[in-house]
Amino acid sequence: MSEPTTGLGIDIGGSGIKGAPVDLTTGEFLKDRLKVPTPHHAGPEQVAEIVGEIAGHFPEAADLPLGITFPGVVQNGVVRTAANLHKSWIGTDARALFAQVTGRPVRLLNDADAAAVAEARHGAAAGVPGVVLMTTLGTGIGTALVVGGNLVPNTEFGHLEIDGHDAESKASSGAKEREGLSYPDWAHKRLQRYYRVVEDLLWPDLIVVGGGVSRKSEKFLPLLDIRTPIVPAQLRNTAGIVGAALAAYGPGTAVPGA
Ligand code: BGC
Repeated sequence: MSEPTTGLGIDIGGSGIKGAPVDLTTGEFLKDRLKVPTPHHAGPEQVAEIVGEIAGHFPEAADLPLGITFPGVVQNGVVRTAANLHKSWIGTDARALFAQVTGRPVRLLNDADAAAVAEARHGAAAGVPGVVLMTTLGTGIGTALVVGGNLVPNTEFGHLEIDGHDAESKASSGAKEREGLSYPDWAHKRLQRYYRVVEDLLWPDLIVVGGGVSRKSEKFLPLLDIRTPIVPAQLRNTAGIVGAALAAYGPGTAVPGA
């Protein structure tokens, strides 16, 4: 069977649930994405309803493989952690739930893992040999490890305990907002420490920084004094959807086409 060239991706985030059909060979959306705000304290049933609505919005994609991201650990379709979402997710077979509402097979994966799949195929990590660490700076810190083009799923280096704190509670862009930190303060006092610890533990060849704040990367990445090359993500806010669509049909955890 030849590899599919199109897929449908849906990205579940704390503020919005977004989806679009994707040209897997270019990483471009085939139609404008649909975004629905995530209801406050949303649990599985509410989100499943929105996932069904988004999938149904693209009838031309009805037969396409469907990939969905989730902002927590996902093993075999079952949600294991939900640091920034309602705890009722934990233990839910969300893949089965989403497959039921959309009437098709679903691949469910962690949001940072999806972003890394997209960057490895079409963005800042494309063709990079060795070990690439993706970090997404948002409400939390998501991480993904791509080794020789293959994803090591569900790494959670955003929750490293550093100086007695859960790292994301101090170094995420959510923490920056909450505490009203300037870019230089955030970079010098928080990101610097975080990335030093991470590079000393993992020795990656490249670090890719995603999340909404990566649009402003020139305000903080040049301030970091670390040994590892560190670059902004290239796909920006499309990475989750593109990565989900790419991963939708991929066997195992390999990055399709890498
Ligand atoms: C979660 C990760 C997720 C990240 C970004 C963290 O709090 O534990 O699984 O990738 O937030 O959404």
